[in-house]
Amino acid sequence: MTPVESVLEPQLTSVFDVERIRADFPILKLKIDGKPLVYLDSAASGQMPQQVINRLVRYQTTQHANIHRAVHYLSEIATAEFEGSRRKLQHFINAREDREVIFTSGTTDAINLVMHGYGRKFIGAGDEIILTTLEHHSNIVPWQMLAEEKGAKIRVVPINDAGELLLDEYEQLFNEHTKFVGVMHVSNALGSINPIKQMIAFAHARGVPVLIDGAQAAPHMKIDVQDLDCDFYAFSGHKMCGPTGIGILYGKADLLERMQPFKGGGDMILSVTFEKTIYNTIPQKFEAGTPPIAAAIGLGAAVDYLSAIGMEAIATYEHALLNYATEQIRHLPDVRIIGTATLKAAVLSFVVEGVHPHDIGTLLNQQGIAVRTGHHCAQPVMQRFKIPATSRASFAFYNSMTEVDTLIAGIRAAQKIFA
Ligand code: ALA
Repeated sequence: MTPVESVLEPQLTSVFDVERIRADFPILKLKIDGKPLVYLDSAASGQMPQQVINRLVRYQTTQHANIHRAVHYLSEIATAEFEGSRRKLQHFINAREDREVIFTSGTTDAINLVMHGYGRKFIGAGDEIILTTLEHHSNIVPWQMLAEEKGAKIRVVPINDAGELLLDEYEQLFNEHTKFVGVMHVSNALGSINPIKQMIAFAHARGVPVLIDGAQAAPHMKIDVQDLDCDFYAFSGHKMCGPTGIGILYGKADLLERMQPFKGGGDMILSVTFEKTIYNTIPQKFEAGTPPIAAAIGLGAAVDYLSAIGMEAIATYEHALLNYATEQIRHLPDVRIIGTATLKAAVLSFVVEGVHPHDIGTLLNQQGIAVRTGHHCAQPVMQRFKIPATSRASFAFYNSMTEVDTLIAGIRAAQKIFA
């Protein structure tokens, strides 16, 4: 998959039945102060269709027990469903093997796992880690902690005024000390789709492994980890129709096998004595304690739901939605879009001249419109654009063009109040 292929196929847009899809999401029927909810904050957390809610209810009412621990009926069912969900995730991202899928509590947990499991073992004093200006704090802070502990150094890929990574500068950052690259697939603050396949190939030619933060990509486009050839790929369930508290880390099996465990406890061991513990094989080596079983099964149902619609169809529809919103907002006076990359996904960040983003957020909320305002956990991006914050409308396949019109009318109304 390349981003271009995933987002451009206009004929699919016309057959995408958004009203039928919206009917699957009970929360979208809510009214906020008598106004229909217009939910444009899916980059922060997405909404859950009835099919996934039903799956969680069925699990809790007829299948729940602890997994991998007993021979009784419920334990066997729960184990089979949990491991079945792992296989669904494997196929969703086209991983070679199901043991390459580690359940985590989300993207942040997955990145911390890589930092502790890989970074603390293989990165040392004087080594360099390449990150980008676009990164979410969750792909900055763990590496800063590691750099501080080990005496390693962080190098940062800059961006241009559109919010696109400067690939020449990326390539120039490599030297004999480079030991790791961490980059997000899609920027949560700006929506830029990064050329990760090219970046991975460049890093691999120099023997450097690459972690992709896919939190904002996996809900919006087809991910193929074998085609990307990434070493690690992380994402969260709650941004893609699944529950909170669950996500995955994909890792190449040979790397995961060489890594040290992140958390110690039950299920991640083969044997324990006070003299020596022998760790379990992957994926259990990284899944200490009782995992979020219900959430993992819910995430399996979420990828079933997304796959039934089709990630290509979702990407195409959302691209049309983003284009429409971008065109509409461009015509508003005194509104500046932050993040104008050629390749973008599902995110529209903007600032309104003379109105603080928090005031925009508050006034939009009074009209039932939910957007996120603030630095979006990406303060270096805000620093790059010399702004404290933006308002961010983020879209999902359950948003309609009419909702975009409501957003535009909402911004106009807010501007009138501050005029
Ligand atoms: N990372 C999430 C966001 O961008 C929370 O809003």
